Amino acid sequence: MSLRRRVPFLRWSFLRLALGARNITRTGQIGDGREAAAVEYVLENARPGDVDDVLATIDRFAYEESFLINVGDEKGALLDAAVRRAAPTLALELGTYCGYSALRIARAAPDARVVSVELAPANADNARRIWAHAGVDDRVTCVVGTLGDGGATLDELADLYELAPGGLDFIFLDHDKDAYLSDLLSILDRGWLHPGSIVVADNVGLPGAPKYRAYMREQQGGRWQTVEHKTHAEYQTLVPDLVLESELLLT
Ligand SMILES: C[S@@+](CC[C@H](N)C(=O)[O-])C[C@H]1O[C@@H](n2cnc3c(N)ncnc32)[C@H](O)[C@@H]1O
Repeated sequence: MSLRRRVPFLRWSFLRLALGARNITRTGQIGDGREAAAVEYVLENARPGDVDDVLATIDRFAYEESFLINVGDEKGALLDAAVRRAAPTLALELGTYCGYSALRIARAAPDARVVSVELAPANADNARRIWAHAGVDDRVTCVVGTLGDGGATLDELADLYELAPGGLDFIFLDHDKDAYLSDLLSILDRGWLHPGSIVVADNVGLPGAPKYRAYMREQQGGRWQTVEHKTHAEYQTLVPDLVLESELLLT
């Protein structure tokens, strides 16, 4: 593996992230147009209808053109394995960005419906274009909103997906790290999960989701069974990260 791939600090597009940190919180984008550029790159370079090629093309863009805050290929393999374990009929993601991880979930669960919740309308538009190019837009959808809005987005999800008690098999948390726990608890309150439902949480090491990690540690062997996967932050092998994979034991 080349040094440039291993060491993110050698890449301007990675260093530029630090400047974009406030933008990401406000707009969901880094602020230099790289997300829109990634969509154009996929449309120009990936074979339409070929999910593998679309994912590989997004990874290539993130390694060679401009760093993206997708879950990436290394942590993505952990996500794939957890999705296969859950074998979902319905999967929910919080935090769409460019639609990369939702596409991975759809690939690992070829018969599942995947719904992704995203705060930023521009990200939802980008992701929808990528999903259409990959040919999965009939079963992968984005709802613009946030679970912290007092129930409106949860109600919309319930209506759109006719979510019955126990109807949700898989969740991927990859949005506001401070909202991981409260959003998961809101979903639990709705009764949508069932024993055996699996929740994967990205970035528990970096930037970190301490309240969520502490909750899963307290609940270990009781309500939840969690494995902490030691891994690396996306698109490099220098900076460590943690992905938590938790199975619900008791509703
Ligand atoms: C790290 S990116 C998600 C990456 C994506 N899951 C992937 O791997 O391809 C985080 C995304 O969460 C969105 N976001 C931030 N806070 C949110 C919230 N409370 N609810 C929904 N989306 C949120 C941001 O706009 C951004 O698009």
